[in-house]
Amino acid sequence: MRKFFVLLMILSMAFVAFSANQLEIFSWWTGGGEEEGLLALFDVFHKYYPDVEIINATVAGGAGTNAKAVLKTRMLGGNPPDSFQVHGGMELIDTYVVTGMMEPITDLLEEWGIIDKFPEDILKICSYKGEVYSIPVNVHRGNVVFYNKAILEEVGIEKVPSTWPEFIEVLKKIKKAGYIPLALGDKNKWTATHLFEDILLSTLGPYNYNGLWNGRTSFEHQGVKEALEIFKELMNYVNPNHASLTWQDATLLVFEGKAAFNVMGDWAEGYLKTLGWTPGKEFGWMVVPGTKGSFMVVTDTFGLPKNAPHRENAIKWLKIISSVEGQDTFNPIKGSIPARIDADRSLYDDYLIWSMDDFATNALCPSIIHGSAAPEAFVTALNDTINMFITRKDVKKALKEIIYAAEDYLE
Ligand code: BGC
Repeated sequence: MRKFFVLLMILSMAFVAFSANQLEIFSWWTGGGEEEGLLALFDVFHKYYPDVEIINATVAGGAGTNAKAVLKTRMLGGNPPDSFQVHGGMELIDTYVVTGMMEPITDLLEEWGIIDKFPEDILKICSYKGEVYSIPVNVHRGNVVFYNKAILEEVGIEKVPSTWPEFIEVLKKIKKAGYIPLALGDKNKWTATHLFEDILLSTLGPYNYNGLWNGRTSFEHQGVKEALEIFKELMNYVNPNHASLTWQDATLLVFEGKAAFNVMGDWAEGYLKTLGWTPGKEFGWMVVPGTKGSFMVVTDTFGLPKNAPHRENAIKWLKIISSVEGQDTFNPIKGSIPARIDADRSLYDDYLIWSMDDFATNALCPSIIHGSAAPEAFVTALNDTINMFITRKDVKKALKEIIYAAEDYLE
């Protein structure tokens, strides 16, 4: 019997020693430029910590469609991963910080001497009551349109449209030429809301759009109704099978020369590059019509959950992802710009330099569907309304629902 207990003790010590050298990273980066970026980041980690085994815990589905629910269940069940992908802003603060599930990490940033190496606005949305709770690994842009240059050339579009009426004219021409004007893949719903929030930014302008989140702008503003009307009009130009495609499938339509435009965050830029395209050569980009001067911010961050099983390794992970080396390895692949202000610009392609320059000078506006602007309950309600709107096409009804959701879920 004693022998058995000794054996058990040895085994459990071996298990602790073994498990102590793991690191579980949770994300939804499973493909199309996303996984490539993550794996490159793992390589940087292993350069410094070769003995740590990384458990790549991913749940597929763009924008965290499925991952967010799995994560929440794990967090509520007291089974957190060591660190996880979470959007800076309400998704982090409202869901995990206010509820007491995260450790503050301000001290770590101070110890590493990098607290002043991130844009203030970005660090602010990762903070609560004076403490930082997550580290931004990137900044994605939400209000971009990518296009197939060959199709635009063939159809004779010399100047890219900058207003909605101009854009609709171009879409008409492309439709006539036999191509899909606007690629959409809303199987996972969020892409429709992504398009809607970009239109909303155009009709409200950055000042009023940002005002939606502090009560300065009412959802009864004319711009909300206008956005629904433009959205409805655009649906006449999307691929008929949009409801069965993912965001990658929609971007692929542009790559395959079947569709001209795709309104998507610039993770699509990362995807197009992994497919073999070069920005500016086979594909071009423009801001979503009417949003020049505004930058729809999407930021992926990682924090430290309370009771992380391998806390020390989680801290090592945070150190790597917050380093210039980590950020400059990840972002050129991912299609995002580094959150670090002292990154090496020479490593970024023409598209990303364009995005960096706009980020530095434009009005910054938090994305709704990518977790920054509003609490989860509002995001879910808006997402449902917009997706029903695609089939119902009832502006009045959708507007009413959005106003009710704002009353119910925004302070
Ligand atoms: C994330 C990106 C990701 C995209 C598509 C966004 O919410 O911030 O990192 O590439 O979703 O999955």
